[in-house]
Amino acid sequence: MDPVRVALLGCGTVGTEVVRLLHEQAADLTARIGAPLQLVGVAVRRPTRERGDLPVDPALFTTDALGLVKREDVDVVVEVVGGIEPSRTWLVEALRAGKSVVTANKALLAEDGPTLHAAAVDGHADLYYEASVAGAIPLLRPLRESLHGDRITRVTGIVNGTTNFILSAMDESGAGFSEALDEATVLGYAEADPTADVEGFDAAAKAAILASLAFHTRVRAADVYREGITEVSAADVASAKAMGCTIKLLCLAERSGDAVSVRVHPAMIPRTHPLASVGDAFNAVFVEAQAAGQLMFYGPGAGGAPTASAVLGDIVAVARNRLAGVRAASESAYADLRIRPIGEVTTRYHISLDVADRAGVLAAVAGVFADHGVSIATVHQSGRGNEAVLVIVTHRAPDAALAATVAELRGLDIVRSVASVLRVEGE
Ligand code: NDP
Ligand code: HSE
Repeated sequence: MDPVRVALLGCGTVGTEVVRLLHEQAADLTARIGAPLQLVGVAVRRPTRERGDLPVDPALFTTDALGLVKREDVDVVVEVVGGIEPSRTWLVEALRAGKSVVTANKALLAEDGPTLHAAAVDGHADLYYEASVAGAIPLLRPLRESLHGDRITRVTGIVNGTTNFILSAMDESGAGFSEALDEATVLGYAEADPTADVEGFDAAAKAAILASLAFHTRVRAADVYREGITEVSAADVASAKAMGCTIKLLCLAERSGDAVSVRVHPAMIPRTHPLASVGDAFNAVFVEAQAAGQLMFYGPGAGGAPTASAVLGDIVAVARNRLAGVRAASESAYADLRIRPIGEVTTRYHISLDVADRAGVLAAVAGVFADHGVSIATVHQSGRGNEAVLVIVTHRAPDAALAATVAELRGLDIVRSVASVLRVEGE
């Protein structure tokens, strides 16, 4: 029986676990695929790096990833390096040459997925990327296959484990953002440079991938409205609690009419919402579809072994397709829906203002909301001598109207500061 020959690009956190699973599950994988998988090369940056007791022949290591991809005896290329270049060059080369590709590279897919999909069509090859969103959770295949008979209306997700750990810690202990980030760093959840996670870039890339699949429309990372969690304060978390809410970094992709909106930002959600109980570094994605109703996907969204599980699932799928002489359906972008700018998106808002505590202040503040057509749902005031904190929750309003309201409030001399503006979702 001819083996299916696999080239592995990258052997770090995810790659080492891919190697381990390929070795440990070899007999079962052979039975499931109908042919053995053979690892024929491993491209890394530092071939002499200590890699523990990894079950791989050291002679397979190379620094020439492109050379490995071009080898005639390679059937499947597995990319777990990350970044845009040189990964894009390697994968385009592989796909155009008819080699199936399995990748966990969310950054590349969200930046330039169409180029990869086009190369897959040119080479009549498979492109699978289950591990790129929400680690081990089977999510992209259900969107790409199981739900293809339905119309998805909304995808709401917690797709970044680091920020979910930080916000959960703030909620549980009352800690501030910096303190919770320090804890996440010590425990190994946050990277030395946490920017991609805490500023929402990682979640925005995943949101673009999810929205593209859910709405049959090309959505790139640049189309995603993005805010991170660095401005979320202990006071915001306490205020959310007082409202029966918790704060999560949400990815929200919604279809209304012939447009989609895709955004990533912190939001208050009721504690009764299914996503509110997703704690620690777990991920969860809530999918709403016309016929299916509400579906929830939950599990570990990162880590070497969980992510490698998703990679191996894809390897089995592409290997089976090769043996059967078929390939999976191409990119589905036929709907080509308009991307709705954030200003047109409507939601509810929680605004916290530091104001002077004297006659007419509340009326002046309420007047600014009224002038911009933003309807107030609740107001709560707590006094501090001559100063007060006003917490206002609005009914649904367009983001542009709320932004104009906040800009005008900042200009009032009775408003000392706009302490925070948070969206309220899930009601
Ligand atoms: P790591 O940084 O741990 O590993 C990267 C690997 O790529 C290393 O083996 C490195 O070599 C190799 N590499 C880097 N540059 C080159 C190059 N120019 N040529 C050849 N090899 C190179 O990354 P992760 O394993 O954490 O992530 C890999 C991918 O998986 C990324 O796209 C990431 O977004 C994605 N992902 C990661 C998850 C996780 O939990 N870690 C979860 C979901 C997705 P060397 O070992 O010599 O340094
Ligand atoms: N940094 C990411 C997270 C890893 O915290 O979820 C998984 O993509």
